Amino acid sequence: MLPLILAAPLFAPAVAAASDARQLVTRGDGIIRSPVNALPASAPKVLGRQNGIDVWNQNSGTRYAVDIEVGTPPQQITLILDTGSPDTWLNPSCKFASASGNQKDCQSFAQFDATQSSSINVTNSGDILVYGSGNATIQYVYETLTIGSATIKDQIIGIAKESHLIPLGILGLSPPPGGRNEYPYVLDTMVDQGVIKSRAFSLDLRGVDNKNGALIFGGIDTGKYIGDLAKLPMLSPRESPRGGDRYYVTMTGVGITAPNGEVLQSEAIGVPVFLDSGGTLSQLPTLIVQALVGFFPDAEYDPKSGFYYLPCDIAEENGTIDFFFGDKAIRVPLNDFIWQIQGFCILGVVAEDEEPILGDTFLRAAYVVFDQDNRNLHIAQAANCDTNLVAIGAGPDAVPSKKGKCTALPTATATATAGSGNLDVSATRAPTNTFTGSGPTDVVVGPGPGATKGSGSGGGDPQATGEAGKNAAGPGRAVGWGPAVALGLVNLLGWML
Ligand SMILES: *[C@@H]1O[C@H](CO)[C@@H](O)[C@H](O)[C@H]1NC(C)=O
Ligand SMILES: *[C@@H]1O[C@H](CO)[C@@H](O)[C@H](O)[C@H]1NC(C)=O
Ligand SMILES: *[C@@H]1O[C@H](CO)[C@@H](O)[C@H](O)[C@H]1NC(C)=O
Repeated sequence: MLPLILAAPLFAPAVAAASDARQLVTRGDGIIRSPVNALPASAPKVLGRQNGIDVWNQNSGTRYAVDIEVGTPPQQITLILDTGSPDTWLNPSCKFASASGNQKDCQSFAQFDATQSSSINVTNSGDILVYGSGNATIQYVYETLTIGSATIKDQIIGIAKESHLIPLGILGLSPPPGGRNEYPYVLDTMVDQGVIKSRAFSLDLRGVDNKNGALIFGGIDTGKYIGDLAKLPMLSPRESPRGGDRYYVTMTGVGITAPNGEVLQSEAIGVPVFLDSGGTLSQLPTLIVQALVGFFPDAEYDPKSGFYYLPCDIAEENGTIDFFFGDKAIRVPLNDFIWQIQGFCILGVVAEDEEPILGDTFLRAAYVVFDQDNRNLHIAQAANCDTNLVAIGAGPDAVPSKKGKCTALPTATATATAGSGNLDVSATRAPTNTFTGSGPTDVVVGPGPGATKGSGSGGGDPQATGEAGKNAAGPGRAVGWGPAVALGLVNLLGWML
């Protein structure tokens, strides 16, 4: 059920949908593959239909976007790829994109013209979607979408009547954070219409300098990772920090492999983290961030944004920031972990004690299969040595446990001794240097996680327009936009195993 919107419909009633001339395009093996290209800002590379959509790294890794086709005849629309929210919507209001640079950025993308589509079916329902950064007031419509080589019909999507701080619409691929579908999301419809066999996709964002990643619905590519895919159970909403149902798993350690091969690693910890492709930076508990920052003596802390600025030559060095999930280590090369924007170099993590996130600065180094049906994430170190697509079927073992064909790590690293405990993540370390300059301008990070709609409501009626933000995921602390973070000792100790 959709919440009703009382305002007048945004559009003139659509032309009655003539029978859709486009056939449902489905590959026999139920795999929809979409190349991921790391591209500089603007200039999306348009690929042929056979290759599916193009997922591109925009604005130095500020966001990852996909091009999909909407309506009949199809209009190409660029959307942020977001594993942190379930709703898909279009047409942000550029006049509220905040800074002037963002207005131009926002205006550089095509908007969907609903009057030109014969397959649109406008509803009287709407909603207010609240994100970590920004929000959108949308009206729901039924439309035909083409994603990669697959066309789905009658997908409910939002068309924004007004939005703030979000320069692009969003393709949402998360489960409903409130634990209950309000309507069939894109992934649900792909399964319902037989395009893929189960609600699962794999995501390989790739490094900032690499143009060969992919988003694959219903399949994995064993030529894109090293070793086994570690199966990590998704935490239940009850186990997750704010009770939202998200792609949460338990991170059991952090570490650093220094350029000289020295290995630092925390003791065993148990921190719930959720994997959010819509998050530009990662957000981890204060004490963990301070422990990692301790390794960069030149880091300058900006209390206004929460960012740690670094000398840019650090991004050229070998070495990795390491994340552990049981036996599995994901090592993020410094070059991918440091966010390089407008000549500034910013450490890829900020402090957040309430809702820890591994965002793009982590995902660039990971190959992740998101299996909503079985509530597991499967994770491995990303690499690129071959192309070998394997379909994800249905049932409990739908995600094939295939070893990755790749062997070499992206940069030379030593082998860590598990749980060596020589990186102390329990000590408070005040930042030693303060950043006093002004940072990058006109950059909106995020959008960050979608609000946990309905989670406090005991699964009652769908929330009417205007109440959607009630259980918003946090105080809307966009990466770096919030106040300086409080000491997280209590939280962190709570998560220590
Ligand atoms: C639009 O949706 C309504 C309600 O589901 C349905 O009755 C109607 O047939 C649809 N119209 C078109 C053109 O798809
Ligand atoms: C959306 O964001 C804008 C800008 O931050 C804010 O003024 C507005 O109140 C928000 N709207 C909702 C419904 O949260
Ligand atoms: C990084 O490691 C590679 C391979 O060991 C080496 O060739 C390169 O010189 C190193 N780069 C730096 C900046 O140390």
